[in-house]
Amino acid sequence: MPRIKDYVDSTPFTKEELLGVVDLGLAIKAAIKAGYYPPLLRNRTLGMIFQQSSTRTRVSFETAMAQLGGHAQYLAPGQIQLGGHETLKDTAVVLSRLVDVLMARVDRHQDVADLARFATVPVINGMSDYNHPTQELGDLLTIVENLPEGKALEEVRVTFVGDATQVCASLGFIITKMGGQFTHFGPVGYQLGEEYQAILRTNCALSGGSFVVTDDVDEGYRDADFVYTDVWYGLYDAERTPEEYMGAFMPTYQVTDASMKRAAPHAKFMHCLPASRGVEVTDEVLDAPYSLAFEQAGNRLSAMRGILAYFTPAVAVDQKAADEAKARIEELLA
Ligand code: CP
Repeated sequence: MPRIKDYVDSTPFTKEELLGVVDLGLAIKAAIKAGYYPPLLRNRTLGMIFQQSSTRTRVSFETAMAQLGGHAQYLAPGQIQLGGHETLKDTAVVLSRLVDVLMARVDRHQDVADLARFATVPVINGMSDYNHPTQELGDLLTIVENLPEGKALEEVRVTFVGDATQVCASLGFIITKMGGQFTHFGPVGYQLGEEYQAILRTNCALSGGSFVVTDDVDEGYRDADFVYTDVWYGLYDAERTPEEYMGAFMPTYQVTDASMKRAAPHAKFMHCLPASRGVEVTDEVLDAPYSLAFEQAGNRLSAMRGILAYFTPAVAVDQKAADEAKARIEELLA
């Protein structure tokens, strides 16, 4: 079966394919730790379209390209014609002739889906209002590296506490795809909607995983191996005010050291970052020995190397044509 060109959403991929990307990321991580930088993307260029700000996603993409021998171009709003009178389709067609692979962080998911449709090069979703698939693989890699003793990936229980952000949805996608148990503990009105739950159901039917959406604190934290949260008021929330979020979430959905004690004794804390310290999580938890938040941020790079190496198509070398071209260039420069 031909490989899917784009990584816009983890849903079309099998568990094995996604674990394969993570394994590739882990293998490259081990190689680099040993001092070997595999030149998998030598002379390749990544175009990075950002409609929103980013620290981890931008820097991990750019660093990954540099470490694997390639190059990344940051294409911010106001720096390229997209957003002016040039259409998304024309931008996709043009950039496909100028770079080898594209990533985009967009305001509307449809934009990254359209970019993938019109571009002839692979397109990677660097976060939309719907999902955050590169975060998914970074988090999966972190979970694989931190499995509770004696537990298989299929046995992990992961609780997301708080708002049904795109990170919450993506975490649900990847945990249920892997066959684990996913819980969204959030207040009614801020829980994962039916569109997302339908995907979780399909994943569970295939993988043997399970999921629960609840506002019951005991059920929410029960036996969780990993407790994960994200900001309550993020990049995509224009309809509700920060005060409304505080009213709905504080104090029940703030992750504190006391609430971590409701989870499994060995439970680890996770956060995609950036965090609002003292809001969705206390300093005590974010900086605790059981917090993986900063390890997760570092693993965005480990995952990104795997994603870029997997999705960027290899160049087929035509040695005879290359030798002829080289000879012609040398003749012209003589
Ligand atoms: N977690 C994450 O996507 O961080 P950035 O917004 O800094 O990229």
